[in-house]
Amino acid sequence: MALHVGILTGGGDCPGLNAVIRAVTLALVNECGARVTGIERGFQGLMTAAVRPLAPDDVGDILAEGGTILGSHNRCNPFSVDGADRSADAMANARTLGLDVLVAIGGDGTMEIAHRFEGLGLPVVGVPKTIDNDLFHTDRTFGFDSAVAVVAESLDRLRTTAKSHGRVMVAETMGRHAGWIALEGGIAGGADVILLPEVPFDLGALAAFCRKREAQGLSTLVSLAEGVHPAGAGAWLQAALQPQLQSEVRHVVLGHLQRGGAPTAFDRVLSTRFGYAAAQLVKGGDTGRMVTLQGAECASVPIADVAGRNRLVPPDHALVQAARGLGVFVS
Ligand code: F6P
Repeated sequence: MALHVGILTGGGDCPGLNAVIRAVTLALVNECGARVTGIERGFQGLMTAAVRPLAPDDVGDILAEGGTILGSHNRCNPFSVDGADRSADAMANARTLGLDVLVAIGGDGTMEIAHRFEGLGLPVVGVPKTIDNDLFHTDRTFGFDSAVAVVAESLDRLRTTAKSHGRVMVAETMGRHAGWIALEGGIAGGADVILLPEVPFDLGALAAFCRKREAQGLSTLVSLAEGVHPAGAGAWLQAALQPQLQSEVRHVVLGHLQRGGAPTAFDRVLSTRFGYAAAQLVKGGDTGRMVTLQGAECASVPIADVAGRNRLVPPDHALVQAARGLGVFVS
């Protein structure tokens, strides 16, 4: 009997999800004649048996499409639905469908849930997704490069107003726990200030830095991770800095613009590599593992090692040092 593989996308949407769905499906159908079933809206679809078959024709054209054709859900955990454990419903559906393996594409939360299903006897393979790039044991998650490209382009555009009006322009990026998007986006967009959740910063020192630039006739571009302040980091920084400066301080929340639209070429390639690597783990019966990128190579690690953990920016990271070396205020 042909291998029967389920695929779901969990957590927030992210550029490259469709490219992974495409690669997993095409590789499994082409290489071993597997039957592939798409599960709708993450683990919710497994709980409610909302599924549909995926054939090569269904995925042929979705490489460059943003979002996920399967839909997603970032609040549904079958182990706790309004306080009730409904994992047995999901397991019963998996058995009725005859799923041999589940490919779960998602972030730390999705990996945690996938790991628990593995414990109940449903073999799983994970694929690391998040624009935040904060999953353990992988140097890159797909979606991150696309988000960084949005931040870089946004800073390029904000520079126009910053220079024309002599303003301090703050771009608030996503990144609840980790500052990878603010750091790489800030470097790619030539930010003068990069503020990360991982490194405590001194408001007085930042104001002095901006005042010095004011005195030199320079405007200031700030790349600020949302995780720097619990509610509305951009608005908070604007209000905190304004009384200490002569120039006007303004902020923009980049928000879901960073998760939308087509994946970059890099993310299309990474998603394709990850999807193909996941198909190889499925074929080899090598389950309970998540695909990773380590250096230039695809590898894999036990899902247990990544479940529910965040990979933060080390305060002495080489990019932090490089930016500081160029005179950027990084904190
Ligand atoms: O984890 C990915 C992420 O995009 C975070 O950077 C962000 O804080 C969060 O999701 C936003 O989620 P939602 O779409 O539920 O507001």
